[in-house]
Amino acid sequence: MKIISSYSIKGGVGKTALSVNLSYALAEAGRRTLLIDLDPQGAASFYFRVESAKKFKMRDANSMAEGLRANIRESDFPGLDIIPSNLEYRRLDILLDGMAKSRKQLRSVLEEFKPDYDVIVMDCPPNITLLSENVFRASDSILVPVIPTVLSRRTLEQLLGFFRDEELPGKRLRPFFSMVQKRNKMHRELMAELPASHPGFLKTAIPFSVDVEKMGLRRMPLLASSPSSEAARAYRALCDEILPSATP
Ligand SMILES: Nc1ncnc2c1ncn2[C@@H]1O[C@H](COP(=O)(O)OP(=O)(O)OP(=O)(O)O)[C@@H](O)[C@H]1O
Ligand SMILES: [Mg+2]
Repeated sequence: MKIISSYSIKGGVGKTALSVNLSYALAEAGRRTLLIDLDPQGAASFYFRVESAKKFKMRDANSMAEGLRANIRESDFPGLDIIPSNLEYRRLDILLDGMAKSRKQLRSVLEEFKPDYDVIVMDCPPNITLLSENVFRASDSILVPVIPTVLSRRTLEQLLGFFRDEELPGKRLRPFFSMVQKRNKMHRELMAELPASHPGFLKTAIPFSVDVEKMGLRRMPLLASSPSSEAARAYRALCDEILPSATP
């Protein structure tokens, strides 16, 4: 089983749009896929029309695994299950902090799902917290949407620096450009320069598109509602690019 996360320190960069479309594309490619919505905002759960998770007690790794398992829901799409968000997740940091090996617990919790899934996709909240550190240690790949702007470049540098300082495997980080506007000169310049800063930069860029924004109205992945749109094709290309690392 492989674990792939959609993560950025920055908010509003396209993490959830990626999680939703990538998990759909992985299921379509024949991978038994579980999407976990780790963000208390619950946007991924909303897009898939699933209710928020039932409250459960998270005292330790066992009760956390049990609670997550009890909340698995089938999506409307074959091969794709979802664990929706829960407001209790806002307490995950405190819970993890109280555990031994507090930075490695999530991986052992997720091992529970190994017999049933080929790949887990985690939609992460923005920010950098103890939960993020667990995500970094649990994930085989961490997909990082980067809008080609100066502030996004700075945030990516912060993340790369954190990985260096904490001696985390930087190879896991797979940044890619998100919300790209080809007519924007700054976008073009940063796109020419930035990939050289990190060998794991993905080639696929997701264009800025109102079709992605409309996912909020249609409440389904763009790949399901408009599979031939430019943005849907980009999400599929990104899935193809990372598919080798999503293969158990
Ligand atoms: N490629 C895109 N083109 C146009 N709009 C986009 C694109 N990707 C995402 N959006 C829109 O931008 C907003 C933020 O996207 P999204 O929710 O995916 O970001 P996020 O990083 O998950 O945000 P948060 O940090 O709040 O979880 C949403 O309204 C979404 O519809
Ligand atoms: Mg989000």
